[in-house]
Amino acid sequence: MVPDMMLWIHPILQSAALLLGTYVLYMGYCRFCFQHLGKKAVFNWKRHVFLGKVAVWLWLAGLVFGIYATRMSWGTLGLTGAHYTIGLAMLPFLAVSLITGYMLQKPSGKRPRLALTHGSANAILYLMALFQTWSGIEAVRLLLLE
Ligand code: HEM
Ligand code: HEM
Repeated sequence: MVPDMMLWIHPILQSAALLLGTYVLYMGYCRFCFQHLGKKAVFNWKRHVFLGKVAVWLWLAGLVFGIYATRMSWGTLGLTGAHYTIGLAMLPFLAVSLITGYMLQKPSGKRPRLALTHGSANAILYLMALFQTWSGIEAVRLLLLE
C-alpha cells in the first residue's frame, strides 16, 4: 500500500509535462516552418533544448511513478486498460525523442531528416499524451475519487 496522497503525484507530474510539452511543440512547429517550409519564424534554440529535456524526462519519471504507485496500491498492473497500454507504447517514442534531441542539441549545419524524425516522434508523443490525459481523468475519477 502507498498513502493515497502519493497516487496524486503521477497525474500532477504528467499534467505539468503536458503543459510544458505544448509550449515545446509550439516552438518545434515554428522551427519546422522555418526548416522545411522556408517561412520566417523565431526559434529559441537553447530554450527548446532545455524545456524539451525537462518535458521528456518528466514524462519518463511520471510513467515510472505511475507504474510504481499502481503496483504498490493494487498489487497488479494494467487495470487502467488503454491508459496502461498507450502509456507503455510511449516508451519507444520517448527514447527516439531523447536520442534524436541529444544528437540535434548542438547546432551543426542542416540535418533536415534527423530533425524530421525528431519532430515526428514528438508530434506522435504529444497526441499520445493527449489521449493519456483523457483516459487519465477517467482513472482519477474511478480510482482516486470513488
Ligand atoms: C531531449 C529533449 C529535446 C531536445 C534536446 C530537442 C532539440 C531540438 C533541436 C536542437 C531542434 C532543431 C533541429 C534542427 O532544426 O536542426 C528541434 C526541433 C524540433 N523539436 Fe525538439 N528537442 C527536444 C524535445 C522536444 C519535444 C518534447 C518536442 C515536442 C513535444 C519537440 C519538438 C520538436 C519539433 C516539432 C522540431 C522541429 C523539427 C523539424 O524541423 O523537422 N522537441 N528539437
Ligand atoms: C504521458 C502521460 C502519461 C503516461 C505515460 C501514463 C502512464 C500510466 C501508467 C503506465 C499507469 C499504470 C496503469 C496500470 O497499470 O493500469 C498509470 C496510472 C495512472 N494514471 Fe497515468 N499516465 C499519463 C498521464 C496521466 C494523466 C494526465 C492522468 C490524470 C489526469 C493520469 C492518471 C493516472 C492514474 C490516476 C493512475 C493510477 C495510479 C496513480 O494514480 O499513480 N495519467 N499511468
